[in-house]
Amino acid sequence: MLSIVTLISGSGSNLLSLLKACDNPLYPATVLAVGSDKDAAGLMHAEEFGVSTFVVEPDKFDSRQDWAEVLASNINHLKPDLIVLAGFMKILPGLFIDRFSPKIINLHPSLLPNFPGAHAVRDALKSGEKVTGCSVHVVDAGVDTGPVIESRQVEIHPDDDEQSLHERIKVQEQMMLVGVVRNIAEGKINLEEFDGNR
Ligand code: GRF
Repeated sequence: MLSIVTLISGSGSNLLSLLKACDNPLYPATVLAVGSDKDAAGLMHAEEFGVSTFVVEPDKFDSRQDWAEVLASNINHLKPDLIVLAGFMKILPGLFIDRFSPKIINLHPSLLPNFPGAHAVRDALKSGEKVTGCSVHVVDAGVDTGPVIESRQVEIHPDDDEQSLHERIKVQEQMMLVGVVRNIAEGKINLEEFDGNR
């Protein structure tokens, strides 16, 4: 059974998909805990599924390093096999990446390497492209730069706004995440082979 800690900052729709998948005894993964950098709405999904939560707010620390140390210590003792960033909107300092690499994956709402950063959906809309998508990648020291494990395409419709496009992307993200986690659990994806940090 693959054990997971998930970090979120937002509504947690991807977290919810993962929790629902893990609720099926035939699914080979389990969520040990869910963490956030703030009192994120999505934490309620963890509570609904009886999964423990923790919040470590950067503002409460003198430095990003101190924040990352405490965030890491909330995870370390659980000894997870995998950390899933599912809409976690803070950049993790190197010390955190070094501690857990290559066992950290991130979901991103674009076809990486296109449109990295916090406004991927908006940037894709502005670009005039007809297709965007979503990616899951191994986290390295850069922003959305780690090796891509899987991606899915999503058409951009002429009448799309940021919200409508993002909602369609999230549907694909949710299915992709559940599939990638299954493949990692079943040994069909070996994160060591994707190690972007070294
Ligand atoms: C997702 O689109 C993810 O790719 C991005 O943030 C969004 C999180 O959505 N990094 P949710 O909180 O899972 O609904």
